[in-house]
Amino acid sequence: MAEPILFNEWTQLENKALTQLSSCTIEADLQKWHTQYFGDKGEVNQSLRKVSTIPPAERKSFGQEGNRIKEKLARAYETTLRELQKKALLADLNSAPLDVTIPGRYCPQGRLHPATQVMREIDSIFRSMGFQIYRSREVETDEINFELLNMPPHHPARDMWDTFFTTNPGVILRTHTSPGQIHVMRKLCPNPIRAVLPGMCYRKETITARSEIQFEQVEGLVIGPNITFTDLKGTITTFARKLFGKERQIRIRSSYFPFTEPSIEVDIDWPKEDPNADRLTKGTGWLEIMGAGMVHPTVLRNGGYDPDQVSGFAFGLGPQRITMLKYGIDDIRLFWANDFRFLKQF
Ligand code: DAH
Repeated sequence: MAEPILFNEWTQLENKALTQLSSCTIEADLQKWHTQYFGDKGEVNQSLRKVSTIPPAERKSFGQEGNRIKEKLARAYETTLRELQKKALLADLNSAPLDVTIPGRYCPQGRLHPATQVMREIDSIFRSMGFQIYRSREVETDEINFELLNMPPHHPARDMWDTFFTTNPGVILRTHTSPGQIHVMRKLCPNPIRAVLPGMCYRKETITARSEIQFEQVEGLVIGPNITFTDLKGTITTFARKLFGKERQIRIRSSYFPFTEPSIEVDIDWPKEDPNADRLTKGTGWLEIMGAGMVHPTVLRNGGYDPDQVSGFAFGLGPQRITMLKYGIDDIRLFWANDFRFLKQF
């Protein structure tokens, strides 16, 4: 029997395809080659389809031969593809060599805002004295910001804290952290309390170098049986010395706050060696750092405590003020101005 002409067709196809494959030099040529032979209408499929035109006795060997060549070409394609990709990568690396000795790009390192740094320092001093940290809300009701702190509507003391009102009647931005006293008391009553409440406060002020419409405060509250004024004095003296140095002296002046009785203001002495001492202390040598006092019985009652059973002290200090003292910053507006020239210095 003569060699079937169709087997020659497979051999011809194989030779032609392999020759063309070996002349592909870039991946795009290779893709064209792949479509030409393996596409839906590619030559390999076309030839395989001829099986139906072949005498039945030869179909099997025709098909086997076709599949053998199909697989061979597919493998050859894969090998050539990998080779071309490798060549392209090498050419790329050689044309733009990678210099592994170039120094890395500088990635600027962030840092904590000075207000955050000092806030954390203050928190950690109080933590070391056994205080817990309590976060209270910044949007507050008039009732808790004023009334329950012993300032009924029209109380003249409210004039000290002009604020921002929301469109919700009776809902304001808190003017101080003192309303947090009510929240923490109601949460922990009847247990004793030793807590500091740090956070942002808001007041409607004319913005100047010394007053801002937003600033932080740290409120302190201690409640328990037999808490006395000497506990208050000891606590704030210890705090001031931990923050400003062992040698510092505390001065207490009588004052007035509606939520404490008696009320005081606390000053620390400022080192005379500091060239700014005179300016900071207006020549007195003393600098105010906080308001404080013994918690008013009405406030204790509003928090759920019985003033005949327990007593307490409270204080409120302004960390921005303290940061300004610590670093000699003379303008409170710098804290929220986001000026890198300022922030970078801390
Ligand atoms: N809340 C007061 C203010 O914003 C500061 C203050 C004074 C807080 C006396 C207190 C306190 O807890 O006992 O000016």
